[in-house]
Amino acid sequence: MEGKEEVAEKSDQMATTIPLLTPYKMGNFQLSHRVVLAPLTRNRSYGNLPQPHAILYYSQRASEGGLLITEATGVSDTAQGYPETPGIWTKEQVEAWKPIVQGVHEKGGIFFCQIWHVGRVSTYDFQPNGQAPISCTDKGCTPGLYGVDWPSPRRLSVDEIPHVINDFRLAARNAIEAGFDGVEIHGANGYLIDQFMKDQSNDRTDEYGGSVEKRCRFALEVVKAVAEEVGVHRVGMRLSPFADYMETGDSNPEALSLFMAESLNKYGILYLHVIEPRMKDDGNKAIDENRADLVAFGRLFLANPDLPKRFAVNAPLNKYNRDTFYIPDPVVGYTDYPFLISYSSLILYFTLIKSHLHLKRLIFLVEYSFKKFDSSIFPQKMERNEEGEEVAEKSSQMATTIPLLSPFKMGTFQLSHRVSDLLEKQIKLSWMKL
Ligand SMILES: Cc1cc2nc3c(=O)[nH]c(=O)nc-3n(C[C@H](O)[C@H](O)[C@H](O)COP(=O)(O)O)c2cc1C
Repeated sequence: MEGKEEVAEKSDQMATTIPLLTPYKMGNFQLSHRVVLAPLTRNRSYGNLPQPHAILYYSQRASEGGLLITEATGVSDTAQGYPETPGIWTKEQVEAWKPIVQGVHEKGGIFFCQIWHVGRVSTYDFQPNGQAPISCTDKGCTPGLYGVDWPSPRRLSVDEIPHVINDFRLAARNAIEAGFDGVEIHGANGYLIDQFMKDQSNDRTDEYGGSVEKRCRFALEVVKAVAEEVGVHRVGMRLSPFADYMETGDSNPEALSLFMAESLNKYGILYLHVIEPRMKDDGNKAIDENRADLVAFGRLFLANPDLPKRFAVNAPLNKYNRDTFYIPDPVVGYTDYPFLISYSSLILYFTLIKSHLHLKRLIFLVEYSFKKFDSSIFPQKMERNEEGEEVAEKSSQMATTIPLLSPFKMGTFQLSHRVSDLLEKQIKLSWMKL
């Protein structure tokens, strides 16, 4: 009887709990929810140096017990293939990361640095002294792919490979020195490690090519070196076995996935971050069905700095603007996506109005709006974006859905919103602070 009651209570809890927002213990890290910021290249690190505007960007997305992963960060001067992407191989870069990491830690976030080498996904312009990019192969991507005239890479000799592995090791050490909680080795999306792993790009006949074991050797040597340097408990790895981005596909992704998962298990690294083909559900199902412990969100987190909070109140989501993903602007499309106004700040404004202002009519309006806000939290109309995903309709987004910010005709006066100027300023201020 007692047992039955317990079960009933548990299932009651389940029904009211959002799986993505349940806590998770990841090694030594106590995560308060499972909504992870996916690594996102933003091309705003001028001269490969992380910039002060990244302090605001990352801290906006940080939450108490939330895991953030940085944009892909170069391990050496041959690792770059895109403009204004950050590095972590020089002292100056390490120093530049420090305040960014500090900003995330001040908000209680857990911060991992994604370390990468692009391999052949580069051009002479990005390489020291205009050299050819390096790879496991001398076969380049098809010139013209994504509009780039890809050069033939220089095939690394067996003797050179330990030097590249050492770059990953040093980058990991630097990341820990910068204050990061750990590193994520970027083994996905067609970059150097992926080039080695996949048989579409790896055409070697030595101990780093041929069988799955030999193709994965480079990846596992990087993992081993990094883990020895900073401890397995601080190492994650990202893989995309099923993807063929940048002409880096594999004829047997199942075998590759299994081999890598088993090998990484043996090492006992902290996590494996796998890129699935477009998720059909919202991530809750993946957690509920025990297919994943954590779910990383890319574009949604990019456009919604307070994504976990929005999931919590089922708020509409800001739409991302693809045109500003990769521009160098330090603000636009970077730190200017709006936050929700929190329920508690609305109560604060309401109290302020009551105690300090004697605008009876406005009080009535605010009270009225507040009730509306309370009952329906946020009206949410959905539409499909260019990629067929369901997102909040523009008209139901932030500015237009906050009743306090909707227009009102007061007699002959056309009010564009329902709060006094003073309060509006406060709202904006607190909006930035949330
Ligand atoms: C602007 C942008 C930059 C990205 N940069 C990286 C990156 O630096 N490293 C990485 O592993 N993946 C990168 N990705 C892939 C994302 O991490 C993620 O896997 C992808 O966006 C799919 O997830 P989503 O549907 O939640 O956006 C990037 C994606 C976007 C849209």
